Amino acid sequence: MIFDTHAHYDDEAFDLDRDSLLSSMEAHNIRRIVNVGSSLSSSESTCRLAEQYPFIYAAVGVHPSETAELNRENIGHIEKLGGHPKCVAIGEIGLDYYYDEPERELQKEWFAAQIQLAIQVKKPVIIHSRDAAQDTYDIMKAEQAGKCGGVVHCFSYSKEMARLFVKMGFFIGVGGVITFKNGRVLREVVEDIPLEHIVLETDCPYMAPVPFRGKRNSSLHLPLVVEQIAQIKGISTEKVEEITWQNALRLYKMGGK
Ligand code: NI
Repeated sequence: MIFDTHAHYDDEAFDLDRDSLLSSMEAHNIRRIVNVGSSLSSSESTCRLAEQYPFIYAAVGVHPSETAELNRENIGHIEKLGGHPKCVAIGEIGLDYYYDEPERELQKEWFAAQIQLAIQVKKPVIIHSRDAAQDTYDIMKAEQAGKCGGVVHCFSYSKEMARLFVKMGFFIGVGGVITFKNGRVLREVVEDIPLEHIVLETDCPYMAPVPFRGKRNSSLHLPLVVEQIAQIKGISTEKVEEITWQNALRLYKMGGK
């Protein structure tokens, strides 16, 4: 059984075949998906999607690149959605210095505020961090993100950084990049970090694994990621599925569900 811990099925890339695609998941062994919001409106549509499909759960939050839309009033909307019965996490939140917009101070302010919100509603966080390893780590430390825990998704840093996040109680999100020619650093991370701290993710419609790189991604491609991890760890694909499934349940505190 495969658990996709990070997907964006509310994206318009799925407008033409969303229902038929999602309805095919179970037959392909994709048994649980967390759809992740990245703005106020996509957090809303994420909750709607989770209401429609029993195997889809929701994460609500505002991506660093979208934080210019936030203010003291509308952040209450995320807090409210955080109480949705199918909401399992606050995210995606974080820092993106690759696109580097809006200004870093604003990104930092809302990253910290949304970690506090997660601690308050007792949900883990899903962290998006690009070209911002040190600031991400420093803010997590300062805001005591270990209290809520979570995942650093689409992990793109060194194994030394990965160890620090793991030490703070965080999971490492691994997706299509592990199959890329230039995915060497991520393969090193996966080799180094115990499998108990790794979760599977697509970030679909983005990040399709080889040989689908550049095309629309979906959870149906996750077996390619599983295979790559199994190869690196020298274990069976069944074992990778089993352990990462358990990890995802721990990450999203879904033990009894
Ligand atoms: Ni994402």
